[in-house]
Amino acid sequence: MGRALIQTTLFALFLTLVTSLPNKDDWDIYSFHINSTVTSRYATTVITSRVANRMNESKEVEFQVRIPKNAFISKFRMFMDGQVYDGVVKTKEQAQQQYTAAVSRGQSAGLVSSVGRTLEEFKTSVTVAAHKKVTFELTYEELLKRRHGKYELQIHARPMQPVSDFKVDVYIDEKAGISFLEVKGGLSTKALANAITKTLTDKQAWVYFYPTESQQKTCDSCGEQGMNGDLVIVYDVNRDISVGDIKASGGYFVHHFAPSSLPRIPKNVVFIIDQSGSMHGRKIQQTRTALIHILNDLNEDDFFSLITFDGNIFHWKRELVQATKTNVNSAKTFAQNIKDNGSTDINAAVLEGARILKAHPREGSASILILLTDGDPNSGETNLETIQSNVRKAIAGKFPLYCLGFGFDVNFEFLEKMSLQNNGVARRIYEDSDADLQLKGFYEEVATPLLTNVTMMYTGGTNLTQTHFTQYYNGSEIVVAGQITDNDIETFTPEVIAISGTGSVRFSDTNPTVESTDTVSDRRLQRVWAYLTVKQLLDKV
Ligand SMILES: *[C@@H]1O[C@H](CO)[C@@H](O)[C@H](O)[C@H]1NC(C)=O
Ligand SMILES: *[C@@H]1O[C@H](CO)[C@@H](O)[C@H](O)[C@H]1NC(C)=O
Ligand SMILES: *[C@@H]1O[C@H](CO)[C@@H](O)[C@H](O)[C@H]1NC(C)=O
Ligand SMILES: *[C@@H]1O[C@H](CO)[C@@H](O)[C@H](O)[C@H]1NC(C)=O
Ligand SMILES: *[C@@H]1O[C@H](CO)[C@@H](O)[C@H](O)[C@H]1NC(C)=O
Ligand SMILES: *[C@@H]1O[C@H](CO)[C@@H](O)[C@H](O)[C@H]1NC(C)=O
Repeated sequence: MGRALIQTTLFALFLTLVTSLPNKDDWDIYSFHINSTVTSRYATTVITSRVANRMNESKEVEFQVRIPKNAFISKFRMFMDGQVYDGVVKTKEQAQQQYTAAVSRGQSAGLVSSVGRTLEEFKTSVTVAAHKKVTFELTYEELLKRRHGKYELQIHARPMQPVSDFKVDVYIDEKAGISFLEVKGGLSTKALANAITKTLTDKQAWVYFYPTESQQKTCDSCGEQGMNGDLVIVYDVNRDISVGDIKASGGYFVHHFAPSSLPRIPKNVVFIIDQSGSMHGRKIQQTRTALIHILNDLNEDDFFSLITFDGNIFHWKRELVQATKTNVNSAKTFAQNIKDNGSTDINAAVLEGARILKAHPREGSASILILLTDGDPNSGETNLETIQSNVRKAIAGKFPLYCLGFGFDVNFEFLEKMSLQNNGVARRIYEDSDADLQLKGFYEEVATPLLTNVTMMYTGGTNLTQTHFTQYYNGSEIVVAGQITDNDIETFTPEVIAISGTGSVRFSDTNPTVESTDTVSDRRLQRVWAYLTVKQLLDKV
């Protein structure tokens, strides 16, 4: 049953490769609706596009939309002439690869800058008989991820022509209470301000975006082709201090854990910076700028070190040192003088970074290794598997490794796998004018560790998603889902143990408020569980 579920959730991109582009003048999108419902940070979005072939002969009609990369398509249907057609599905991985390949070949050059970073495209076409209509309906689902203390629901609107009946409806329902709500994104501009209505109560929010046809042509990111941009709904929920927010229904539970009123834990951080020849020009400049910002943000009780590498390793210091003003200034001078030259020996650099971190274990601190590179290893050890295995042995689960892949020449899969093997994540840094801000933004996500060695325990819980987390950072969130044995909520007891800045801590409620509903939302918690299970399975491949 679990497998079937996973497959349903894996239901994914359906790409019909269109050989000749259909001519857009031949058809008319007379209605385009986006309807997004978010409950407990789980968003289900339905895009409905209604199209008429106004011509007296059959025409190929195209449906092309962009959805968040983290989403799974759960349903795609077409309605034509009283018939329903279910979409044929290609796995998301294949589609993702095709998309990544297209982007790296520079085919997205015409896109608005941020589009390629967080979205992927869904495209299909169908032949519609003369004077007939077709309705496309695409449903996708995603668990919103908390970053920098907020959730973001990104809705991309690009119907490809002005549409007389255009609507975006967003409904958010958070039992914990909504602490703030903002509407951002390229479409939230002055020209469209009066098209947006926002209603916020304690636990619910509604955002409606109904631009007129002329507004769709005159806003900043719009033209004769209509709108092309994002509406981003940003919010956070209220939190209680204890064990967190637990929902149960239909035999499943979802636990959101994000305590914020904890003291920060001093950190040990080693930056490993690629200075190989390919970093030449803007990339190395942006790296210097970002590093200097990041060094400025270190706290005086943090320890740090900085190494750069090409075919050789260059030390600022051979050990971790305290982030005193003098040391930070000296490191900034070092960072200012990073020059690009030579090849890329990732293996030696990461092993040296790990050595520096391990040489100075500090009681009650959190260690982090950050690698920034823009290329494949082409010097020293170049066998990818050997590097991964060396790195895993050197780190031995003691601290997370975060890999930042700069640009599209990196073997991102290699970096991603290496991060995941060492309790970290990889992030792509897009070559663009804001690359320094992307680097700084990533650093800020891990800048404030609040807990280390977090273990989530559930008496009476089974089939759990990941339950052990090396570190928890302020502004983020830990989410665990699972099944409740025999659906026995009475004996179900969540508990979290971890190490905080003041020592070992245990979060438990003798009487936890497990919100239990057995109504409509039944299937939803099961879907959150399936979503997390699939995501974590994909990470392991
Ligand atoms: C859940 O776990 C039980 C054993 O604890 C197992 O029998 C069952 O098949 C699992 N269900 C799913 C959906 O994985
Ligand atoms: C949006 O979707 C929700 C849930 O499926 C539904 O209840 C609501 O009527 C829809 N709203 C619109 C405007 O279609
Ligand atoms: C379609 O319309 C064109 C002119 O718009 C006309 O020449 C042609 O005969 C029409 N075809 C049919 C099948 O009605
Ligand atoms: C964590 O974030 C919250 C909200 O952004 C802030 O109020 C709090 O001071 C932060 N904690 C630390 C230790 O920085
Ligand atoms: C650049 O790298 C080459 C080969 O490793 C080395 O001989 C040369 O001294 C380096 N130049 C600078 C300026 O570091
Ligand atoms: C982390 O927690 C686990 C389980 O509570 C424990 O076995 C382990 O020793 C802890 N590790 C560290 C480094 O404290």
